[in-house]
Amino acid sequence: DDDDNGPGCPGSLIVVSNRQPYRHEYESESEGDDGSIVVDEPAGGLTAGLDPVVQEANGTWIAWGDGEADFAVTDANDCVSVPPGEDAYTLHRIDLSEEAVSSYYYGFSNQVLWPLCHEFPDLIEERGDWANDFEWYRTVNERFADAVAEHATAESIVWIQDYHFGLAPRLIRERIPKAATIAHFWHIPWPTPETFAECPVSEELLEGLLGNDLLGFHVDRYARLFLECVEQYLDGAVVDHEEWLVDYDEGTTRLATAAMGIDAETYDEHARAVEDPDALLEEFGVSPEVTLGLGVDRLDYSKGIPERLAALERFFERNPDRRGEFTFLQKATPSRTGIPAYERLGDLVRSEVTRINSRFGTDDWQPIVYTEEYVPQEKLCGLYRRADVMVISPLLDGMNLVAQEFVASCVGEGSASGAAPGEPHGDGVLLLSERTGAHERLGADAVTIDPTDTDAFAAELETALAMPASERRRRMRSMRTDVFEADLEAWMDSQFDSIRRLHDPSESNDDD
Ligand code: ADP
Ligand code: F6P
Repeated sequence: DDDDNGPGCPGSLIVVSNRQPYRHEYESESEGDDGSIVVDEPAGGLTAGLDPVVQEANGTWIAWGDGEADFAVTDANDCVSVPPGEDAYTLHRIDLSEEAVSSYYYGFSNQVLWPLCHEFPDLIEERGDWANDFEWYRTVNERFADAVAEHATAESIVWIQDYHFGLAPRLIRERIPKAATIAHFWHIPWPTPETFAECPVSEELLEGLLGNDLLGFHVDRYARLFLECVEQYLDGAVVDHEEWLVDYDEGTTRLATAAMGIDAETYDEHARAVEDPDALLEEFGVSPEVTLGLGVDRLDYSKGIPERLAALERFFERNPDRRGEFTFLQKATPSRTGIPAYERLGDLVRSEVTRINSRFGTDDWQPIVYTEEYVPQEKLCGLYRRADVMVISPLLDGMNLVAQEFVASCVGEGSASGAAPGEPHGDGVLLLSERTGAHERLGADAVTIDPTDTDAFAAELETALAMPASERRRRMRSMRTDVFEADLEAWMDSQFDSIRRLHDPSESNDDD
């Protein structure tokens, strides 16, 4: 699409997501009535990427209102016009009680569906009381469906994001005009049929998702697994494995894959704007002289952080000459705190870092520098730029945007103006788990790892650090081409294109 205004949505757009694009907070912790209210703008990723599209469409966005002051600024219908002062679209906030959040978000979404889809079925058993969680999950999905119905017309395109809304498509279908389109993007993996057998509500979940006209996944593998699960677990569904269609209960759902991208140019610009990446290292107590390995993750058991630490320990065992010379900076963001598996992971990661550091560290050097500090996106880009090797080792990850952010931020010396997009570029090496969606895109030029094979993982780290500069540059150039071409805008465009084709198979942006 050569339209500079970004991907065009073909109808009136209603986005549904758990996280909202704008949050209102009281400025002071004191929370007094006269406390002024500040608004957090979308910081990155999906919300930041979708925001301009919803603005352009003058659409509606329905999301959980989780800011302290969100409902102090909304009207009687829980709606507020955003962005502040520009009033481009309606943000409809859903107010959830503590109990609803605890069961719908922390419970069913993140202790049943998340572990199920990331192939950790034992964690579902650990949660135990999923029945109550599921009641809340259904209730919250109904509340979102009711909100969609308040805004939808026959021309609407409802675009649902992620696993928090597995039941919503059918609930929405029951409430809105038949001509409206319901599309959904499932941002996490889809499990194998063997694992899906552990889903306590398999039929209801599949029925819910088959309320969609279009269901999107990052990669073909997840779409195929979904079709296999439908075939095995849902009586009455007719699956067309060639055309990726499912007929069920008088409706047809089409599957489509579109690997999500990032706003590559922004990362590139941020990285170029960093004057002295070495100075950033000093802020974390890392000597600017070191060869730098970098990890950036939410503290999530799917990210393979303990496996990474084990490989680093093996690496330092085998390469004494790297002690004092190579430092691994691990930036981790606590996530979904309070869930036992996340608490255990945090404890394990912190204690392993301490143990490895006391084993190899010296007075003036630590092998692993670990921080949970918040780092703004601009600085993060500086760290990506400075990294000699970026290590991404999930046990399973739907896509992994950090891999792409690293590539987009891997800029060389000098200014990009006048040069081809993304030029000049740097020569960092990406170590990437074969179990990520990102690997399907970048695997040919990344150094591939199996995170559970500690010896091989450590050996690949050695390979990456020993790689000749010309080889590093060739690989990085190729990865940058992918990340700049298949960016966030291209991903959205591909989804809207699939939506257009639902109505008229001859209509496609490719023909523009
Ligand atoms: P997930 O959606 O599972 O968290 P992704 O890699 O797809 O994984 O996306 C994570 C997003 O969160 C990226 O935009 C990344 O920059 C940001 N992020 C993750 N960890 C950190 C961190 N420690 N500090 C700052 N930002 C982070
Ligand atoms: O990738 C799945 C996802 O739920 C994203 O939608 C979200 O941005 C990220 O994980 C962080 O999770 P949470 O919204 O639970 O903090």
